[in-house]
Formats: sequence, C-alpha cells, structure tokens
Amino acid sequence: MTTEQSPALDNLLTESRSFPPQPEFAAAANATADWYSEADADREAFWAKQAERLHWDTPWTQVLDWSNAPFAKWFVGGKLNVAYNCVDRHVEAGHGDQVAIHWVGEPGDTRDITYAQLKDDVSKAANGLLSLGVTAGDRVAIQLQMIPEAIVAMLACARIGALHSVVFGGFSPSALRQRVDDADAKVVITSDGQYRRGKAAPMKANVDEALEGAGSVEKIVVVRRTGDDLEGDVPWSDGRDVWWHELVDAQPADHEPEAFDSEHPLYILYTSGTTGKPKGILHTSGGYLTQAAYTHNAVFDHKPGQDVYWCTADIGWVTGHSYIVYGPLANRATQVVYEGTPNTPHEGRHWEIIQKYKVSIYYTAPTLIRTFMKWGADIPAKYDLSSLRLLGSVGEPINPEAWMWFRENIGGGNAPIVDTWWQTETGAIMISPLPGVTHAKPGSAQQPLPGISAKVVDDTAAEVGRGGGGYLVLDKPWPSMLRGIWGDDQRFKDTYWSRFSEQGFYFAGDGAKYDNDGDVWLLGRVDDVMNVSGHRISTTEVESALVSHHTVAEAAVVGASDATTGQGIVAFVILRGDAAEAGDEAIQELRNHVAKEIGPIAKPRQIMVVPELPKTRSGKIMRRLLRDVAENREVGDVTTLADSTVMDQISKGLSSGSDD
Ligand code: WT7
Repeated sequence: MTTEQSPALDNLLTESRSFPPQPEFAAAANATADWYSEADADREAFWAKQAERLHWDTPWTQVLDWSNAPFAKWFVGGKLNVAYNCVDRHVEAGHGDQVAIHWVGEPGDTRDITYAQLKDDVSKAANGLLSLGVTAGDRVAIQLQMIPEAIVAMLACARIGALHSVVFGGFSPSALRQRVDDADAKVVITSDGQYRRGKAAPMKANVDEALEGAGSVEKIVVVRRTGDDLEGDVPWSDGRDVWWHELVDAQPADHEPEAFDSEHPLYILYTSGTTGKPKGILHTSGGYLTQAAYTHNAVFDHKPGQDVYWCTADIGWVTGHSYIVYGPLANRATQVVYEGTPNTPHEGRHWEIIQKYKVSIYYTAPTLIRTFMKWGADIPAKYDLSSLRLLGSVGEPINPEAWMWFRENIGGGNAPIVDTWWQTETGAIMISPLPGVTHAKPGSAQQPLPGISAKVVDDTAAEVGRGGGGYLVLDKPWPSMLRGIWGDDQRFKDTYWSRFSEQGFYFAGDGAKYDNDGDVWLLGRVDDVMNVSGHRISTTEVESALVSHHTVAEAAVVGASDATTGQGIVAFVILRGDAAEAGDEAIQELRNHVAKEIGPIAKPRQIMVVPELPKTRSGKIMRRLLRDVAENREVGDVTTLADSTVMDQISKGLSSGSDD
C-alpha cells in the first residue's frame, strides 16, 4: 500500500436519484427487509440458516472459530462434497431433466446440458482425473476458454478434493508458468485452440511453451475444441499429453462423492497485488459455498426452475467461479454460458442470446455497459428483452450515466440493478442492494448484505460520519473469506490485516464514502493496483515487464481514468542510452512486449518516453504526479520531490505513442 491518498477520496457526490423496487417485485422477492434485523440479532444463527440450504454429510459443531484470527474456520467439524451440492442433489430431487447450461459457442454451435448429463460428465471427469493419479489436496491448473468442459473440470476437481487453479485464457505463457510453479500443479487442463472473433487461435502451443521444463507437471489434458479449424498441428508430447475425450468418455458415469471437511481447500485463484508476484488466493469449501449460494439467491433473487440466468464473466476470474459455477449451480440455476466476444459476429450478440433463451437475470461489468453505450441504443432496441427482470453490475464503480442507460435500454426502465461490491479475496458479494428492498441509487453499492459487516474508516480506524470518506474495511469475518495466500501466511497477514491490526479489520484496498443516508459509494483503489475493464492489474507487474525489455532503463506505470475501460494503463519509461531516440515502432514493440509477458489485458494504452521519473528523497516514485500528467491535469504539489525540476523536464520533453 502506498501512503499517497487517492484523489478519488475527495470526490463530491452529486447523484440524488433513487428508485424503489416495483411492488410486485418486492412482494415476491427472496430476501426481505427483516433479513437485516435477523442477521444483526444473531449473525452466527443467520449464517447457520444459510448453510442449511446445502447438503451436509456431517453437521458442524461450531459455526465460526475465529480464535486463530486472521485464519477463520467456518462450520467447524462439518463435512460436505461441493460438487454433490452443485449437481447430484438436484438430480436426486427429481430435477435431472432441467437444463443446467445453455451453452452458446462463438461460431454459433450450441449445447444444452441437463443436470443429469452434468452429473455424468462430472463423474466421468472425476474418474478420469483419479486415473491420472490426482488425489485430494493435489493442484490442477486449468486454462480453458468458456466451454462446458471448463465447468466440468472445476467440478470434477471439487468432487475429488483436488484444488483447481484456473488461469485466464488471455494470460501469457509466462504468467501461466508462474502460477503452475507457485502451486506445484500436477496436471494442466487446456484445449487445442480457441475461437476468438471468428478465428481459431492456438492454446495448447502456448501451454507447451509455458510448461517447458516445468517440474511439477505430470500430465496435460487437452480438450478438442477448434479441431481442423486450427492451422498447423497441435504440438504433442507422447506419455505426457492426453486428449480429454480419450481420458473421460470411456470412464464410468458412477462416482461416489466423498465428503470433505468444511475447511478442505477448494481452489486457488491468482490475483494481482502491489508487488510483481501474483497472490494465490485460497478458498475452502463449506463457508465459501454457503455464501456464494446465499448471495446468488438473495442478490439476484434467483428462482430455480423459473429464471434463466446469465453472468457474462469468464471462469478465469472470481466472478466466474462464484457466479457461474458454484453459486448458481448450488441453487439449481438454468444458465447461459457464452464462449465468445460480445461483437462476434455482430454487436447485438448478447441481446440475440437474451431474446432466444428468455434470459431473466443478466450480470455484467460496467466496462461492457459503456461499450454497449458506444455502439448505440438502437442495437438492443431491435431485440425483445422483455424477459429481463433483474440486472447486475460488478468489477468497478458503475458511473450513474451507465447505470441509467442500462436500466432504460436493457432493463425496460424498471428492472432493478444490483451494483455488487466484492473481491477475489472476499469470495462472494459483500455490499449490494437487495433488489426487493433497497431504494437503488445509480452508482452506489449501498449497504453490506445481511450477515456482512463493513465500515468506512479514517487513518486512525475511526468510522467516518455521514458524508465522510476514507478506507473500506470489513470488521467481522465472513464465511467465504479467503483463508490465506497459497504458501505465504506472512504476506496474507501483511497485505490485508496489518493496516488496522489493532482493530482486527480486513483492509480491502478500496476508498469509499458514506452519503447522507449512510449508503456506501466505492471510490476505487487506494493502492498501486489498477482496474482495467474490471481486471485487476498491478502497476509493479507492468513495470517489471517493461524493464525486462533490453531498451528500458526504468519504468513507472499509472492507471489513468478512461471513459470505456475505467482505467487505462499509462507507462512512463526511461530508455537506455543507445535507444533514447526511440520512435513509434520501438514504442509499439514495448507495448507488445508487455502483452507477451503478462497478457493482452496488460498492454499499456500509452507509453511516454521521459528523461527522468519523479521520486521522493527516499526513492519512491510519486505516481500521483504521473497520474496528473496522464490525465492532462495541472501537476500537483511537487515539494516532496528529490529534484523539483523533474516534472518540468517531463512535460517539456514528452514524446508519446499510443493506441491500436
Ligand atoms: C476490486 C476487486 C469482484 C469480482 C470482480 C473483480 C473493484 C469490484 C466493484 C463495485 C466498485 C468494485 C474494487 C475491488 N470492484 N466490484 N461494484 N464497485 N468497485 O474482482 O479482481 O478481485 O477486484 O474490484 O476495487 O477491490 P477483483
């Protein structure tokens, strides 16, 4: 964390609109106003009641053990199988014929998968993994696009107690390798190739490049997706590589799910921190599933067997884990899963899918909403979106303009919008309106959910008053909280629990403020973490990628506000002597280098070549001043700079290159 105060904390609120739920919606809502008082009266009893929505093979003896804080134990002594809860129990209850997944491939192929089929698929995949020698506690890395096998693979791991570590398909080979090594993954699951904007692009070839010499990896399982559409052969290593269909199809469809301890690890998911090394966020079973299922039920008002739900996230991010896989399936949802990009083959693709499947709940990200705004309201207007009854937003603060556009043009002017604040670390939604209760305000996540406690505090940990701003903290443990950082307990304590250690608060890294009604408004990160299109990227990670290029001597990276992506990555680089005259081509090469090192999502929007970087006397880069330059503002207070002329040098000598 930096000591710099984010300028966002000084934001002034001007939004005063508020939209109460429609009476019919409120009357039928899953979650009602008395849930707040019930949870306040007895938090643990409230969570026990939520946990009882799941099937437990052995009941717990204690709801919460916080005696070894910050390492929580929830539902102590309880045993359950997460995959059984997401699949088998719905079949046993007579819902085997209900569609679990309406899958839509980018080229237009589709598959409908019922809960009965899903049970067979997951059981076979579990047997397949067992046949490779994967056992409970082992790590399986998954790098797959949005195909049903991705979900099946995750559930198969859960079923046998192996931890999955899903790596976003857009991450580079070196990013994949870093994650595989950190978790000592035994098996990697990927595909031959993926469809991206109408073209087949290789996946397995990248995975091979990544895993060259990776000591822990015994097997690579490859799903055939692009087949003959992919140019060239799929690189293959006999003995190590195995096709998914050859491994899985012949397996028996019977697999007895074993009950695991409530605290048995479920998965690791890497996320960026303030250093160059991603953190392996660890989630466990009983508490995680309880809160994922609870929030999916309460926040999305999901009615099993009636709603058609669609979360547009990728399983490479936590939203895909909690709100495509675990929450919805635990609640017996029928959901749409879409493989492709929103403008392939045309900009109405999402609305066409909503119309076709009569989607009733649609959960997406502000960056996509702003993109839809840019494409124009006449596009969704061509489709019948009347099935939609609830809209959701996640990933970054949603600006009121986008919120209103979403409500008017997608939600028919009356669908409630839930702006859901949470993090990879929190595992599930923490702050959000309840759609049948809350008078929604455009741009505010509003209130901690029943059972959750959050506060906005100042530097001294004192709660700020109405109208005041500060840091968002979570002052009480919650069931789906992270249980640690894989292999690094000290980093876990330092990152989240040291800022307010005396009070025992979890520090989320976000700035926030209360309005005059006491509703919470999120104001963005207060640390060196950027939010680009809802993806978390650390400034240090991009800086390390830049300085790994032979022409770069030094680099500083900031997130500058961007009308579409929330923030855009702007880099300031000092080139080595002989490269100092770099032109546009050299800058393009640098941008591509970052994409290659981390992934295309980390490609800087703009790179400026500068003669110096602004540093304090202790050598710390003052990103605040660089943000001023990147956002075309007058440069702020420079008195703490070691050399106060640096900013003049930067402004005078700017040469820049940008944008594809
Ligand atoms: C960070 C977490 C949670 C899944 C997607 C991102 C920002 C997330 C909101 C929201 C304002 C939000 C925060 C948070 N964020 N949702 N509704 N309003 N900000 O997960 O990659 O772990 O990032 O995303 O800054 O700390 P993540």
